[in-house]
Amino acid sequence: KAWRSSIIHCIADPSKVGNDNAYEYFEDGIIVVENGIITQLGHAHDLIATLAPNVQVEEHPDGLILPGLIDTHIHYPQTDMIAAYGEQLLEWLNKYTFPEESKFKDKAHAKDVAERFTQELLKNGTTTALVFGTVHKESVDAFFETVETQNLRMICGKVMMDRNAPDYLTDTPQSSYEDSKELIERWHEKGRLHYAVTPRFAPTSTPEQLHQAGKLLKEFDRLYLHTHLSENVNECEWVQSLFPESENYLDVYDKHQLLSERSVFAHGIHLCDSEYHRLHDTGSAISFCPTSNLFIGSGLFKLDKAEEHNVNVGLGTDVGGGTSFSLLTTLSEAYKVTQLQGKNLSPIKSLYLATLGGAEALRLEEKIGNLKPTTEADFIILDKQATPLIAKRLANTHNIEDLLFVLMTIGDDRVIKETYSMGEKVYSKPTT
Ligand code: GUN
Ligand code: FE
Repeated sequence: KAWRSSIIHCIADPSKVGNDNAYEYFEDGIIVVENGIITQLGHAHDLIATLAPNVQVEEHPDGLILPGLIDTHIHYPQTDMIAAYGEQLLEWLNKYTFPEESKFKDKAHAKDVAERFTQELLKNGTTTALVFGTVHKESVDAFFETVETQNLRMICGKVMMDRNAPDYLTDTPQSSYEDSKELIERWHEKGRLHYAVTPRFAPTSTPEQLHQAGKLLKEFDRLYLHTHLSENVNECEWVQSLFPESENYLDVYDKHQLLSERSVFAHGIHLCDSEYHRLHDTGSAISFCPTSNLFIGSGLFKLDKAEEHNVNVGLGTDVGGGTSFSLLTTLSEAYKVTQLQGKNLSPIKSLYLATLGGAEALRLEEKIGNLKPTTEADFIILDKQATPLIAKRLANTHNIEDLLFVLMTIGDDRVIKETYSMGEKVYSKPTT
């Protein structure tokens, strides 16, 4: 099957190769998919005559095809507590988050939320996410069972948390090791699924538990490590007092062998130079979560510093600390975060962060994040006529970078027309 539309994807990081070398754009393009894999991509005038007669071509003249969006940090159990009022991180966790997460002991509840969460992702054009569960292993089963039916490439893990949280929500170093191991054996690399060892953050794990996390990473291949890092000033001070022997926040994780090419740290707002160096040297990535950083008042992520130190950065919504499932809306906030620091985030860099940059942070760029032949056909079709305002605004926009910028700045789930996983339609916007 083939799709004919405008098509854009990133092929490199614009900060490294320059904007013009970082993307391919086909104003009238064709993408051909066979057995879930992209087999051809190019200009319609080059490809149309070469297609076998049995290839069906679906045309989207007002569309723009992009790779499926990649959310590198999100909490599915926080779906129903999005927009919790009035607190910063540590108070927000105690007042809203922990009580909400306690409900996931009940598998039926977890399944209900997992299903609605997955619908939100697809409706927003997100085809891959790195996802927090709760401390309960049922929460991870519910999530993987849900996304498996849609054949989505997803990463999730059970929270490890053995102190500084209510008793009803804590495990122990031993039980967290055993439960995680059981889930890894059940789900890791089953189809398109991957497991992430997920200590919540340094304050809620004892050194013994962090040691168990490191042990899991050694015992299995290609596991992810997913946690939070240096998000909020009070949190950072707390970490220093809990781990006085550590040189800095990142060093707490480093001392337990938790830094690798598959480690993703959410936030990383208040980092010192040696932490950036260490992130770079170990190939670890940061998930930049602007809506969350603004909403819970954590601070402004220094994208320029991360670039300077060559640290991989992906984009995250961090729902429910974040306020939107839409990575387009998230990019609009990312732009504002850089503006407040006297910098401009370019539209191509933005596209990169939400697609190939996320794939690189997750070491999945051979499979997703771009539309090169041989990659998996996870893509979305945006509607340039989604609303009268967007249509009008785009009518006097004549280059692709400006067009992208408008879609990111005022677009959201309304511009997502269709979402595909392995060439199969998994979401289609209802016609009104
Ligand atoms: N730090 C530890 N837990 C959390 C969480 O659930 N959300 C956010 N944003 N930060 C955290
Ligand atoms: Fe988070």
